[in-house]
Amino acid sequence: MATLPIITAPNARLKVTSEVVETVDDSIRKLLDDMLETMYAAPGIGLAAIQVGVPKRAIVVDLGRESQPNGPLFLVNPKIVWASEEFLAREEGCLSLPEQYADVERPSEVKVSYLDYDNRQREIHVDEILSTCIQHEMDHLEGILLVDHLSAVKRSMIVRKLAKARKQAQYDTV
Ligand code: NI
Repeated sequence: MATLPIITAPNARLKVTSEVVETVDDSIRKLLDDMLETMYAAPGIGLAAIQVGVPKRAIVVDLGRESQPNGPLFLVNPKIVWASEEFLAREEGCLSLPEQYADVERPSEVKVSYLDYDNRQREIHVDEILSTCIQHEMDHLEGILLVDHLSAVKRSMIVRKLAKARKQAQYDTV
């Protein structure tokens, strides 16, 4: 396994639509393993392949031992097949938007179909943080960031802050 660099906004690659994976084979499993290691090292609770520059429909999620006792989830080609009518606003963060947090409203529960680590077709019904997290990661597959759910004013404020922080970081390392 290897830790991969995480792309941060603003970056055009984060806006692409990721491609469907035909089969979860060894090369996809390697990608999933590397994504998981990258996510743990960050640390974060979810990561989409495009965040490490790979435009494939693959995400990994691990909320930690108490909230997700069965260990990490690998979702390839995830698709929402049902969503609750009830919405919930929850504060979200993103490894591609370091240190930025905002409330995003999403369906509180969803059912998601996907291919698992062994290329088996599965379905999962999620609520609470896991629901928020999976929907957030699935947004990445469409090139959508959490800031895209916010007003234009709030969004440009956060993106400006990030661009400034990055400039400062480059300066600091010279
Ligand atoms: Ni994210």
